[in-house]
Amino acid sequence: MAKIVIATDKPFAAVAVKGIREVAETAGFELALLEKYTEKAQLLEAVTDADAVIIRSDKIDAEVFAAAKQLKIVVRAGAGYDNVDLEAATAHNVCVMNTPGQNSNAVAELVFGMLVFGARNFFNGTSGIELKGKRLGILAYGNVGRNVARIAKGFGMEVYAYDAFFPAEAIEKEGVKAVKSAADLFKTCQIISLHIPATAETKGSINFELLNFLPKGGIVINTARKEVIDESALAKALSERPDLKYLTDIRPDIHADLTANYPDRYFSTPKKTGAQTAEANINAGIAAAEQIVDFLKNGNERFRVN
Ligand SMILES: NC(=O)c1ccc[n+]([C@@H]2O[C@H](COP(=O)([O-])OP(=O)(O)OC[C@H]3O[C@@H](n4cnc5c(N)ncnc54)[C@H](O)[C@@H]3O)[C@@H](O)[C@H]2O)c1
Repeated sequence: MAKIVIATDKPFAAVAVKGIREVAETAGFELALLEKYTEKAQLLEAVTDADAVIIRSDKIDAEVFAAAKQLKIVVRAGAGYDNVDLEAATAHNVCVMNTPGQNSNAVAELVFGMLVFGARNFFNGTSGIELKGKRLGILAYGNVGRNVARIAKGFGMEVYAYDAFFPAEAIEKEGVKAVKSAADLFKTCQIISLHIPATAETKGSINFELLNFLPKGGIVINTARKEVIDESALAKALSERPDLKYLTDIRPDIHADLTANYPDRYFSTPKKTGAQTAEANINAGIAAAEQIVDFLKNGNERFRVN
């Protein structure tokens, strides 16, 4: 009987584990659970006889692949998979998947929670701004970006987007104005929401030049990845442009400095919160289990990322 291991340092909600168990057991697989582990050795031990592993932000490196002799598939329940060493996975002939789209609405709703908080001066009682009629620039029109666009329309915002790969015509079809570059987006929109993945190309790509293009009163919201922003450029922009605000769900390395220097223009969630909803948890966990069953039984490699 094939064995699926859920290895989550930060556990799924109990109801998600129940759903995963149902999917696994209905398909005739065994399910084992490793939660809140404190030592890597526990992870190495848990994967020794696993055919499949479901993870969240857990780090799966070459050592884990070497320890997991029977492993055929790892599914990251979530969108970003930069916590998995894809080269090592491929070298060990292991398929890696993510579960795109399952937590997108959760992240998009958080964008607006943070945006209203920022637009209203962190609820300090002073006069803020409204979102209605403002231009919102969505950098990367993927699963999260698309949900942000949907909600932004409800706020009466003018929605713009740039995506390096998703065609402009398809963006325009959804009632969103497509621009030709990230620079155009920053020049056009007072509010920018970042949804690019962390890749060799995007790391540090939000630089001083881009930030300085922002119209007066610019707000940048980052629910994507810490690495996409050049932190020294961010510090410089906040220092030279007292009108700018930066709101993030991923704490930068310079968090302490920014908090001390710009308490009314910089905000970070205490812990990454974007995907932390019961719905996203359940959706992503169950999708991961279903993808594993479909892969092990039928060889379906949809959502493979390596
Ligand atoms: N805060 C959280 O908890 C949380 C939760 C989910 C996702 N995320 C992050 O949010 C980001 C978006 O997630 P998603 O589910 O929408 O991913 P996605 O894969 O659906 O979309 C990413 C989009 O980025 C585009 N893209 C890639 N490189 C680009 C570039 N150089 N310039 C412009 N566009 C580019 C792609 O064409 C794609 O449309 C990822 O970084 C993901 O890791 C964070």
